[in-house]
Amino acid sequence: MPTEQMTSANLPLSSSGRTYHVETRPGEMSNRILTVGDPTRAQLLSSLLTKEFFRHTSPRGFLTITGLYRNVPVTIVAIGMGLSMMDFFVRETRLVVQGPLAIVRLGSCGSLGAAGTGDLVVAESAFGIGRNFDYFTEMPTTTTTITATTSDEEEKKREPYLFWAAVQADERLTGLVKQELQEVAEVFPGSVGNADGFYASQGRPADAFWDANDGLLDEVRRRHPDVMALEMESHMLFHLAKVSTGKDNQQAPSVSAACALVVFADRQGNRFISPEDSQQKMLLAARALLDALVEYMPTQDGLHPSAGSV
Ligand code: URA
Repeated sequence: MPTEQMTSANLPLSSSGRTYHVETRPGEMSNRILTVGDPTRAQLLSSLLTKEFFRHTSPRGFLTITGLYRNVPVTIVAIGMGLSMMDFFVRETRLVVQGPLAIVRLGSCGSLGAAGTGDLVVAESAFGIGRNFDYFTEMPTTTTTITATTSDEEEKKREPYLFWAAVQADERLTGLVKQELQEVAEVFPGSVGNADGFYASQGRPADAFWDANDGLLDEVRRRHPDVMALEMESHMLFHLAKVSTGKDNQQAPSVSAACALVVFADRQGNRFISPEDSQQKMLLAARALLDALVEYMPTQDGLHPSAGSV
C-alpha cells in the first residue's frame, strides 16, 4: 500500500461544502448505492422508493436521489456515460459517505455472448479496452508498411487498441445480485469489456474516421472467451473499488462493487431493444438489485447522523 494518503483535504469542495461534480455533501447519500447512466431511468427507478428525502441535479448532469427502500436508506445516482463520469462519481461519493460503501451499477450493454436484447448480464469481472492514440499518429498511405522494430517509440504504435486485465467484482455482493436477479429472469454471468468509447473501441465500423478496428471483436473474444458484453463503466468501478482504502488507509477496500446490465444491442444480430422493453427490464432488475443491496448491508444506519429526516 503506498504511503501517500488521499484525505478530504486533498479533494476540492465548493463554498457550500458540496463536491464539485456530483454536488452532494455528508448526510445526503446512503452507503447503499444503485447507479445508472440515464437520469430519466433514475427518475423511473425512484418510484421504487417508499420515501424520498433528497433529490438534486448537478450542472454536470449527475442526478442523486436518496430515500427508503424496504425501510432502509438507499441512494440512486445517474452518472451519464463513460470512465470519467464513473471516476467523478465514485471518488466524490466516497468523500461524503462515512464507512463501507456498496455500489451496484445497473447499466446497458451490447451483447457478445449468448444473451439477446432484453436479457440480463451480470459482470463477474471487467477488463478494459482503450484506443492506442500513438498508433494513429500518421495516417497510413497505400505505400506504408509497418516494419518490425525494437525502438520503444515504435513498439508503442504496434496495436491500435490496448487491453487492461480483468478486475473482479465483489464476490458476495455479486452473488446476491445473481441470486436476486435469477428469481425474476434468466441471468448470463461472465466477464464484461469496458471500452473507452461506444464506437471505435467497441468495434463499430466508421466511414468518416480511421479506426483500424476490423478484427477488434475477434481479439476481444480470443483474449476473454467468457466475454458476455461490452459497455463503458464497469472496469473503472471495479478498479476503484479494488484500490479504495477508506479514511487514512484503515479500511481497505472500503468500496464493494457489482454490476448488472440489460442488453440493449445484440452485436451478432445487430438488433436494438425497444423503449418499452428497456423500461420494463430496468424496473424489474432495479428492484432485485435494491434487494441485494439491502441484504448485503441490512442495518438502517446508512446515512450520516446529520441527515435530519432519516
Ligand atoms: N452500451 C454500450 O456501451 N454499448 C452498447 O452496445 C450498448 C450499450
